[in-house]
Amino acid sequence: MNLYDRIPNNVNLSEDKKLQRALEKWLPNYLDWWREMGPEGFQDKDVWLRTAIDVGSEGWAHFDYVKMPEYRWGIFLEPPQPDAKVGFGDNYGKPAYQEVPGEFRNALRRIIVTQGDTEPASVEQQRQLGKTCPSLYDLRNLFQVNVEEGRHLWAMVYLLHGYFGRDGRDEADELLERRSGNPDKPRILEAFNQPCDDWLNFFAFTMFTDRDGKYQLSALAESGFEPLARTCQFMLTEEAHHMFVGDTGLGRVVRRTAQLMKQGDVRELGGIPLDIIQKYINFWFSYSLDLFGGEISSNSADFFAAGLKGRYKERDQYTEHTAANQNFNMTVVEDGQLKTREVPLRNALNEVLRGEYVKDCEKGLARWNKVLADEGVSERLFLPNPRFHRHVGEYAGHTFDIQGNLISREEFERRKDEWLPTMEDREYVRSLMHPVVEPGKIAQWIAPPAAGIKGKPFEFEYVRL
Ligand SMILES: [Fe+2]
Ligand SMILES: [Fe+2]
Repeated sequence: MNLYDRIPNNVNLSEDKKLQRALEKWLPNYLDWWREMGPEGFQDKDVWLRTAIDVGSEGWAHFDYVKMPEYRWGIFLEPPQPDAKVGFGDNYGKPAYQEVPGEFRNALRRIIVTQGDTEPASVEQQRQLGKTCPSLYDLRNLFQVNVEEGRHLWAMVYLLHGYFGRDGRDEADELLERRSGNPDKPRILEAFNQPCDDWLNFFAFTMFTDRDGKYQLSALAESGFEPLARTCQFMLTEEAHHMFVGDTGLGRVVRRTAQLMKQGDVRELGGIPLDIIQKYINFWFSYSLDLFGGEISSNSADFFAAGLKGRYKERDQYTEHTAANQNFNMTVVEDGQLKTREVPLRNALNEVLRGEYVKDCEKGLARWNKVLADEGVSERLFLPNPRFHRHVGEYAGHTFDIQGNLISREEFERRKDEWLPTMEDREYVRSLMHPVVEPGKIAQWIAPPAAGIKGKPFEFEYVRL
């Protein structure tokens, strides 16, 4: 692969002139979008970024100073598996699809567009954050996440251009036209229309919402449509860093808060009180749960039957890959009460994936609670019940308290300020957000990281301003 290709890739783009031309035509539109909707105010600065130039263990993480508009967004797929097979569903064991199967065309395009839409959306949500960064280290991490979300958009656009012809190209154009939070042309999924305008939001977003991405990509990495599987497998290596940013970022806020709690009043000392951190967790966790879709879903059954979207670690974790003739016990609301209903497993696969996600989030909470314990503070953070504050699926339209008990809408309205960030909470957090850009310095509401990036110290000049 030539490092200086216009579009770095390991898919032999130069041998497919038609595809290359289509992507080269899309490239300037992408750059226009990046300049208009990418990080505001830092486009001409040198940022110490990781660029994927190959998928091998050496090549995929190349570090250097780059100006973001010159970042080389490439197309990288994991190498093909010889004799790849469909790993689940009705076509289990048949050869993997190398082209889009006609009968699944619409479903597959929908899956790719929905995933693709989240990538530029998050860049748009985060575009103002650079102006209030708590340190140069954090500023660089923000931009790393942003350019990689841009690359993930490229990955999905490659599939649309390469495998879906005319309507794929139209969809690729529309991915650059929708805008996060714009009422006339919003992004497809609601969590990606929520503002992410302070750093506590950013860390909670990368912890909880990027982690949804991990589980969606993992399910698609099992896909019988091989180009999609190989694309997602590589995206997951980048995604890990985004969750690291969120997980350790929140952990550092928690550490700082715990330190300040021992000194006196956290607010007076300029920190973020634990109850506000908890409310941000509640907000982003509940919105991220919605991203998995309805608890009982015929789409999930169809996608699985078709071999398009598997379960988390389908190949490694399961021995039975049809999920047919099995049932799943689901908690549902019936006659104003919570009841257990048996549903066909295939219709419950969104919920199965959501369950894996919740387990993973719990590990993050355990890490933050360990920070609290290490600092000698007795309070603990927790995840709300998955029924709390939902806008999609079985529990939408009902109201629950933070423990998941069914309550009246009036009671929810009366108590919601205990559970979700209020306007004042948000304003308070925003009031703390002042840029700290001197190398080695950090804002007072967050602890420094345990280590720098790629062996560099925290004091390293990660962004040249
Ligand atoms: Fe992504
Ligand atoms: Fe991400």
